[in-house]
Amino acid sequence: MKILQVSDQKMGGQAGYNVFAEALANGATVFGLATGSTPISIYDVITASDLDFSNAVSINLDEYKGLPGTHEQSYRYFMNEHLFNKKPFKESYVPDGMADAATETARYERIINDNPIDLQILGLGQNGHIGFNEPGTPFDSLTHEVTLTQSTIDANARFFADENDVPRYAYSMGIGSIMKAKQILLVAYGENKADAVAAMIEGPVTEDMPASVLQRHPNVTVIVDAAAAAKLT
Ligand code: F6R
Repeated sequence: MKILQVSDQKMGGQAGYNVFAEALANGATVFGLATGSTPISIYDVITASDLDFSNAVSINLDEYKGLPGTHEQSYRYFMNEHLFNKKPFKESYVPDGMADAATETARYERIINDNPIDLQILGLGQNGHIGFNEPGTPFDSLTHEVTLTQSTIDANARFFADENDVPRYAYSMGIGSIMKAKQILLVAYGENKADAVAAMIEGPVTEDMPASVLQRHPNVTVIVDAAAAAKLT
């Protein structure tokens, strides 16, 4: 793994942008994307740039089950706001939260197989989750329906008027789906990610720490700030 330590999220945005720009210049056409607070500064630099994704395809990691793309807390809506409205792709796939689980997860995995991901961006959960793959998710999992853990529901509750409105289920690429990407860029900021960052990079490779699987991937770049890197030896 290549570790890039940056001074703050703004510099992380620039460093992440550089990884996207280099991949694009090298012929990448399929980009795996993430939501959450972490990638926003990268998307901000991309939207302010002249990078052209109009011949590229994007495939997002996950979506809440039960939320339509028009819902302000859906991941489709987030992506439209932060990236797609300003920087359109030829095609942008996000799981359809309103579709039936069996049909949608099979359809989505077919999309990933038909459009092999050149560069996948990931955030990191405090418990080491990637996508919505919580601890215990098999490393060979494909796109599947996820029951969200209480800690993830709690972390998401700030975005909803009422805790009871937070979706309990999601559709997510599996760990096996993510590992098919040719290159992975994982980004983590802040002290609340420090334990997960250390376990991901220096701990044992175990399904109890989903991100530790990245030790087995041949092309991973990690962008961290000092707080997130604090527990690395
Ligand atoms: C988002 C996703 C999640 C987040 C993770 C970190 O599409 O799949 O795994 O990347 O929960 O979230 P933030 O960036 O908000 O700390």
